[in-house]
Order: sequence, then structure tokens, then C-alpha cells
Amino acid sequence: MTTTQPSPTAAGSGSSATEAFRATRADSGAPQVSTERIAAVVSSLLAGIHDTIRTQAVTYDEFQAAKGFLIEVGEGGEWPLLLDVLVEHVVEDVASRSRTGTKGSILGPYYLPGQPRLDSPATLPQRPDEKGTALVFSGQVRDTEGNPLPGAEIDIWQADEQGYYSGFAPHIPEGNLRAVVVADDQGRFEIHTIEPAPYQIPTDGPTGKLLGAAGWHPWRPAHLHLLVRAPGKRTVTTQLYFRGGEWLDSDVASATKPELILDPVEVGDGTHAVEYDFTLEPA
Ligand code: DHB
Ligand code: FE
Repeated sequence: MTTTQPSPTAAGSGSSATEAFRATRADSGAPQVSTERIAAVVSSLLAGIHDTIRTQAVTYDEFQAAKGFLIEVGEGGEWPLLLDVLVEHVVEDVASRSRTGTKGSILGPYYLPGQPRLDSPATLPQRPDEKGTALVFSGQVRDTEGNPLPGAEIDIWQADEQGYYSGFAPHIPEGNLRAVVVADDQGRFEIHTIEPAPYQIPTDGPTGKLLGAAGWHPWRPAHLHLLVRAPGKRTVTTQLYFRGGEWLDSDVASATKPELILDPVEVGDGTHAVEYDFTLEPA
């Protein structure tokens, strides 16, 4: 049962997520947002906030409590956690309007670029005594015409059997359960790993406290994170879930999609296996 797990701590994840975000953002080469666009989006955002204050008749006490909360989110380094869990799914939804191919899902706060490249078939780096059901995850990466994409890359990261991510939990070795797996000349890949546990937003930080104060649970269903890329193709950012998994129908991050649910089968020795193919559209 997931409820017997040790609780994740905000200290281990929040501020590390802020550092990871800053490091990736610094070299993203993203263009400056125009004055017109800032004015349009910020006006609309403020209109939404003003409207909420009017319709909910927000009091001075509540306004000051909100300020205190926002200060704590910043001090705890939890902006990536808070925004990715409560907001990113809508940004992804808008981005996916113009996309074909494999469905996307949110990136989340725990991606770390620059992991080792391993040729398929590959075993994800893991502790000698890594707990959890062994999982063989295989498939093929193709273009929208069905042609295989040789040398496609599957950049994969996941929580362990207790729901913790390496890089964001001090007790896990760096790089654990993370790698960039390079597909073969038929775009095929085979990845040996373990099934992750559901993930819990740390309950001792401001994000977790807000969820608790609103009476919402802090859980995401178990998932694998993936960035699937190939030369000349648009990278797919997605997540894969597990059929029958707890919290599938009430993901706190609202990031599940029916097309993204795996159904692994037992293949002996307690090992599970599942195939999933990816389709990448032109860049
Ligand atoms: C968060 C954590 C995740 O593992 C994820 O996939 C999405 C969001 C979060 O804590 O915000
Ligand atoms: Fe995650």
C-alpha cells in the first residue's frame, strides 16, 4: 500500500527543482516575450484574479494569507512543483492542439538533461538492490507515415519503487533510473527497468500544505517520463501510466490520457513486459 511509504520531504525536492529549472532555462535559447504579448497575457491573468476576488468576495485576511503562501512557495523553491502540478496540463493541452503523433503530457519538475546515452537494449542505471517489479519496456519509434526512425532517442526518467526521483531525494544515487536510450537501425528499443510507485507531492512544503488545506489528495499515479526525439522530428514530451494503477482517475496534476496507459503482462519470474510505439511528426 502506498500509504505505508515514508513521506517525501519538501527540502529534498522543492529547491532542487528550482535549481534544475534555472540550469535548463539558462541555455534554452528561448526568445524574449514581446511587450504586446506580455500586456495581453498579464491583463487576462489579472482579469481572472480580479473576477475571482469579486465573485468569491475575497476578504483582507484571505488576501494576506495568499501573500504569505506565495512568499513561502518562493522561499521553499516550490514554484516548479506548484506550477507543474496545477497549471502545466493546460499549457500542454494548448500546445497539443497543433500536434499529431503520440499524445503528449506534462514535463514536470524532475527532468535532468545530459544523462548517459545507452544503446538499446539497455538497463536503466539502478542500485544493486533496486526494489520493484522488473519491467521490460520495448517498442518502435516511427514517423507519421509509419517509417522506422533509426537512432531515435528515448530520454527516460522515473520514480523508484517508493515514489522518489534521483536528483530530488538525497538518499538516491545521482542518475538512478535515468538514461537516454538510443534505438537501433529500425527505431526499436528495449529498456529494462522497474515499475515506479505512485508519486506524492511533499506534504510538508507549501504546495502540499495548500492541497491538504483544500482537502485534495497529493498523489500522481505511477508513471514513466519520456522525451522521444529523432533528427528532423518534433520531440514528444510524454508520460506513460499503468492500467489499474492507483490515482489514475484522480491525478493531482491532471496529466493522464487514455492513450498513454500501458498494460504490462507477466512474462515469468515476476517480470512484467509491455510494448509501446511512438509516432513523431515532422519538426
Ligand atoms: C510533479 C511531480 C511529478 O513527478 C510530475 O510528473 C509532475 C508534477 C510536481 O511535484 O509538481
Ligand atoms: Fe513525475
